[in-house]
Order: sequence, then C-alpha cells, then structure tokens
Amino acid sequence: WKATSLKYLDLGNNRLFGQFPDTLGNMTNLQVLDISENWNPHMMMAGNLENLCGLEIIDLSYNYINGDIAVLMESLPQCTRKKLQEMDLRYNNFTGTLPNLVSDFTRLRILSLSGNNLVGSIPPWLVNLTRLTTLELFSNHLTGSIPPWLGNLTCLTSLELSDNLLTGSIPAEFGKLMYLTILDLSSNHLNESVPAEIGSLVNLIFLDLSNNSFTGVITEEHLANLTSLKQIDLSLNNFKIALNSDWRAPSTLESAWFASCQMGPLFPPWLQQLKITELDISTTSLKGEFPDWFWSAFSNVTYLDISNNQISGNLPAHMDSMAFEKLYLRSNRLTGPIPTLPTNITLLDISNNTFSETIPSNLVAPRLEILCMHSNQIGGYIPESICKLEQLIYLDLSNNILEGEVPQCFDTHNIENLILSNNSLSGKIPAFLQNNTSLEFLDLSWNKFSGRLPTWIGNLVYLRFLVLSHNEFSDNIPVNITKLGHLQYLDLSHNNFSGAIPRHLSNLTFMTTLQEESRYMVEVEVDSMGGTTEFEADSLGQILSVNTKGQQLIYHRTLAYFVSIDLSCNSLTGKIPTDITSLAALMNLNLSSNQLSGQIPNMIGAMQSLESLDLSQNKLYGEIPSSLTNLTSLSYLDLSYNSLSGRIPSGPQLDTLNMDNQTLMYIGNNGLCGPPVHKNCSGNDAYIHGDLESSKEEFDPLTFYFGLVLG
Ligand SMILES: *[C@@H]1O[C@H](CO)[C@@H](O)[C@H](O)[C@H]1NC(C)=O
Ligand SMILES: *[C@@H]1O[C@H](CO)[C@@H](O)[C@H](O)[C@H]1NC(C)=O
Ligand SMILES: *[C@@H]1O[C@H](CO)[C@@H](O)[C@H](O)[C@H]1NC(C)=O
Ligand SMILES: *[C@@H]1O[C@H](CO)[C@@H](O)[C@H](O)[C@H]1NC(C)=O
Ligand SMILES: *[C@@H]1O[C@H](CO)[C@@H](O)[C@H](O)[C@H]1NC(C)=O
Repeated sequence: WKATSLKYLDLGNNRLFGQFPDTLGNMTNLQVLDISENWNPHMMMAGNLENLCGLEIIDLSYNYINGDIAVLMESLPQCTRKKLQEMDLRYNNFTGTLPNLVSDFTRLRILSLSGNNLVGSIPPWLVNLTRLTTLELFSNHLTGSIPPWLGNLTCLTSLELSDNLLTGSIPAEFGKLMYLTILDLSSNHLNESVPAEIGSLVNLIFLDLSNNSFTGVITEEHLANLTSLKQIDLSLNNFKIALNSDWRAPSTLESAWFASCQMGPLFPPWLQQLKITELDISTTSLKGEFPDWFWSAFSNVTYLDISNNQISGNLPAHMDSMAFEKLYLRSNRLTGPIPTLPTNITLLDISNNTFSETIPSNLVAPRLEILCMHSNQIGGYIPESICKLEQLIYLDLSNNILEGEVPQCFDTHNIENLILSNNSLSGKIPAFLQNNTSLEFLDLSWNKFSGRLPTWIGNLVYLRFLVLSHNEFSDNIPVNITKLGHLQYLDLSHNNFSGAIPRHLSNLTFMTTLQEESRYMVEVEVDSMGGTTEFEADSLGQILSVNTKGQQLIYHRTLAYFVSIDLSCNSLTGKIPTDITSLAALMNLNLSSNQLSGQIPNMIGAMQSLESLDLSQNKLYGEIPSSLTNLTSLSYLDLSYNSLSGRIPSGPQLDTLNMDNQTLMYIGNNGLCGPPVHKNCSGNDAYIHGDLESSKEEFDPLTFYFGLVLG
C-alpha cells in the first residue's frame, strides 16, 4: 500500500470485505479506482481520502453498500470532487437525498446512481454539471417533476430516469438535447401529453415512455426527425396513435411497442411499411379480419404480439416459412384450424380464441418451449407429434374438448408446467412425466383420468402444484407424496381415493414453514421459464380456480401464494393424522365428504395460517378441541354432519364466523351443545366437557413446539 505512483487500481469482481485501509489515501497519483462487484454491503470509503486528488474515475457499482449517499459524497475531498469525471454507484443500497454539493463536481461526465434507494427530487445542483453525458438515476424512489433545466445539459447522450415516482410532464426543453441517444422515462407517474419538441432529437436511438399515465395523441410531429430511432416503447399509457396512412417510420426502426395505445378499429396502413423485427400492438382496439398485406408485411418479424384485440378470421394455413420466434395471438376471435408452425418458434400463445379442429399431426417446432392453447374449441386426440417438441417446458391445453389418452412422450424431459384441465381426457396419469423431474405445476383436473396415483409421483421433487380433482382416480394416496418438499397446493378432491390419509405429512416442508410474502415473489421470479422474462410468464395468464371459504376463487398463477390441501369428496377412511397440525403455513384444509373417523387432532390450533377449515360430512366423533380458538386467521369453518359431541368452544375469532347463521357449521352433530346451537349443555356436559376437561386440554403453543423439536 505504499505504491504512491499507482494510477490505476482495479479490484473489481472479487469478494473483498471489510473497510478499505486508511493507506488508500497514500496513493496520491491514483486516477482510476474500481472496486465494483464485490458484493460487500459493509464496504465504505475509509475516512482518509484527502490526498486522492488525482482521482478521475471511481466505480463502486454492484456492492450493495448500505449507507447514506450524502456521507459518501462528503467523504470525497474538495480536490477530488473538482477532478472527478466518472462516478458509478449503481446497485448499492444508498439511501437519503443527493446532498447539495453545489457545482463541486463540475468535470463530471458520467453519473450513475441507478438501483439505489434515493429519495427526494432531482436536485437542482445538477444544472451546473454542464459536461454530463450520462445521467442514470433509474430504479430509485425519486419524486417531484422532471426539471426543465435538464434541457440545458446539452452534452447528454443518455438520460435514464425510469422506475421512480416522478410526476408531471416531459419539459419541452428536452428538444434541445441534440446529442441524446437514450431517453428512458418508463415506469413513473408522468402524465399530460408529450411535447412535439421530442420529434427533433435526431440522434435518439432508444425512446421508452412506457408504463406512465401519458395522454394525448401521437402524431407525425412527435416522430418527425427521429431518423436514428431503433426502438420505441409507448406501451401502457393512454396514448392515441394517429399517424397519416402514408407515414414512413425511420428506416432504422427495429422494434416498436404500442401495447394499450388506442390504434384501431382498423389496422393502420402505415404498419405495413414497418421493416422491423419486434412489434407489440396488443390491446390496441383492433377489430375485424387481418388485412391482405398483414402476414407478408410481417414475415420477417421475430416477435409479434397482437393479443387482446377483436381480430377475427383464420391464420394462414402454412406459417412454417415465417420468422416468428414469439407469437402472441391470445384473446381475439380467431377461428379455423391451427396452421403449420413457424420453424423457429419458441413461444406460441393462441389461448382464448375459437380455434377448432384438432392439433395438427405434423406439428414440427423443434425449438418450441412454451405452447399455450387453452380456452379454444380444439378437439380430437392429442397427436403423437406433440412428443417431438423436445424443448417444451410449458404446455397448456386446458379448456378445450380433447379426448382419449395422452400420448406416451419419451422425448420430453424438461416440462415444468403441464395443464390439461377441463377436457375429456382419459387413461392413467401419463407415465412419461416421471422423466420430467423439473415438473412444478401439474393440473389434470376436470377430465376422466383413472387408475392409481403412482408412487413415482414422489420423485417429482420440484412439484409445487398438484391438481388432480374431478377425475376418476382411485386406490390409496401413496405415502411417497410426502416426499414433495416444495408442494404448496394439493387438490385431489372429487375422485375415488380410498384408504387413509398418508402419515408423515410433516415432511411437506413448504407447508410446515411459515412464508413471508416477499419470499413467494422471489420464488416466482426465480421460477423463470427458460430465460423468458417475468412479464412473459405473467402474460401467459395461467389461472387456477380454488375452492376455499366455501367459494370458488380464481388466482392468477403469479399470485398463487396460496397454501392448500383439498381431499374432499373421496372415500378416505381412518383418522386425520395428528401430524397434519405441523402444517403451520397451510391456509386451506378441506377434508369434507369422506369417511374419516376418530377425533379432530387436539393440536389443530397450531395450524396458525389456517383461514378455511372444512371437515364436514365425515364420521368424526369426540369433542371439538378448544385449541381451535387459537386459529386467529380462521374465517371459514365447517364441522357439520359428523358425530361430534360436547360443548362447542368459544373464542373471539370463532364467535365471529358465519354470522348470518352460526349453527350451520355445527349442524348434523347431535351431541354438540352450548351456543351457538340451541341445545343447552346438561349439568354433566358443562362439568365434564366444559370447564374442567377443556382447561386440561388447553392448548399451549410452547409445549407443542418443544415437542416438535424433540420429535
Ligand atoms: C500513508 O498514510 C498514512 C495514514 O494517512 C500515514 O500515516 C503514512 O505516513 C503514509 N505513508 C506514506 C509512505 O506516505
Ligand atoms: C451553479 O453555479 C453557479 C456559479 O458557480 C452558482 O452561482 C449557482 O448557484 C449554481 N447553481 C446551483 C443551482 O447550484
Ligand atoms: C420424512 O422425512 C424424514 C426425515 O427427512 C425421513 O427419514 C422419512 O423417511 C420421511 N418420510 C417419508 C414417508 O418420506
Ligand atoms: C370443500 O369441498 C367441498 C366439495 O368439494 C365444497 O363444496 C366446499 O365448499 C369446500 N369447502 C370450503 C370451505 O371451501
Ligand atoms: C337453556 O337454559 C336457559 C338458562 O338456564 C333457559 O332459559 C332455556 O330455556 C334453556 N333452553 C332449552 C332449549 O332448554
């Protein structure tokens, strides 16, 4: 550390921890200091930097440093501030507002503060940084409006303010930013119309205004001199796009995103002149049939999204020579047969239309990963050709009129999501699934599948959703099912399963572990579909209908944080296994309409996340455990039609349930007494079951957890 003549110190991409030694300040000739990507939240510049007067470039990005931005800036000595040209502080955890170090950093060219937790407005002292070429402030919590004086920073080539909380409009002064190549204002709360001055940014390559509340009409004027534009994103605003039919897009344009801009009802003629590779015109109120020019104009497009319009008619019969890699046609009024597929297609979503006939037996799409055809009128058998889709990870054929057995596909190994619900499919659970060990989501509900649930189901260890309800499955539920440590949602209802509920339910570790909501969200994000983005996963719109609290709810998959076991309407016998009470994260338990006997487990009160509990229509006897009163989240309870007896426990939560008719949840149990039922407890009941007995059984969470740990 005595290398006083050192000019360039690059310690980036290591795992350095702790503070930097004071002696760093001895490197009086240092010009470049790069300590990026050390993932060290505790790194902070040491106090003694007085002599670092030669520093021109400082890079602390990707360290997740916790600290106040003002403290960091103020630790840089005057002489450094005057000299500094580049300051890269991206992706740390800096908090606070940018300090007012008026015109100190006058030589600064690059200032990157993106991906921190900065608050406050865009500070006025930036106006004096007249040499700035790059200003990156995206992904912070900045508020206030965009100051017009930013238009005076005429050296700017890149201005990125996206993903903040900015309000107001785009200043007309932005028209002066002649060198600007990147303008990203997406994901803020900006509104009003866009000034026509934007149209004079001749060097602009990338323009992103998406996901704001902009209004007004986009005309030729806005795009007049954008002769360098490659990518434009106007999605998710309240724009109306009204360009003359002879308008010509800049020849440089490669991708255009107009989702939810008002554009229809007719396909605007200028679309056919676009020579681009990516186009999103979803939710643009387009109506009617495809114009003649449509498929030839877009035969070189690799990404096309026309979802959520009212487009009708058939697809061209042969699409194999088209360039599409991702094609979204969801939620239109398309009819006719499914065409031959584009050779390079990786994602096809034709769900929610009126496609009919059968899935083509010559389905050739060697790169197809995501195939979504739900909610159409597709019938017949699933052809063997589906087995040739070796790269398939997501297949949704639900809500069609498919019949017969699922072909035995020996070629697919990567399926993560298989959704075949609501058809008339029959036969056993497809055996090829045992090779698809990355399966996370299996929904075969509302079909005519039969046979037993194979023991190999326990090998599908990543399974999170197993939905087999409304079929004709029979025999025991294999005990191997408890090997599914990721299982979050189990629905076997409305089948003919018999025998006992498997023991060792406590091995369902996802259900035993209390989850924080944030963790679900991260898991959904990590749960990537082979490199496709979260937005795409989201837009596939897979839904899950859930029976809970006596009502059917529809969950969007990405929101499906729901933890549930539904075994209702089977022929299960034996007792409710006592270790079911270790499923502390379970929110819904439905064992209704079986032939379960024995008592309700005493520790039921340990299932602290339980919101809905249905044990109705069984042969349960004995008393209702008083620990039930510990279920503070419970909002639905049904114990009706069993042989329960004794005094009904009472507690603040229990007493609020089912207020319109509190007796319904206990009806059909002749031995129950006390409020809310009308039978008075006899002196005996009151004595034995009421005070003495129930106080002996009082639930003690501490004992329970102690027992659990020992166990
Ligand atoms: C380096 O810096 C330390 C602390 O500032 C100082 O005590 C020491 O004398 C310096 N060494 C040299 C060689 O300049
Ligand atoms: C900009 O610099 C000038 C001259 O140094 C100074 O008078 C002025 O206050 C500065 N403006 C801001 C907003 O800091
Ligand atoms: C449950 O987990 C325990 C401990 O991991 C294991 O020994 C046991 O075999 C598992 N039981 C079943 C039925 O998988
Ligand atoms: C339990 O399942 C039965 C049969 O599927 C259903 O009718 C009932 O509403 C469900 N209970 C709850 C609480 O959702
Ligand atoms: C229940 O007991 C209360 C108080 O002892 C009495 O007033 C009521 O008539 C009894 N009801 C029935 C149905 O026996």
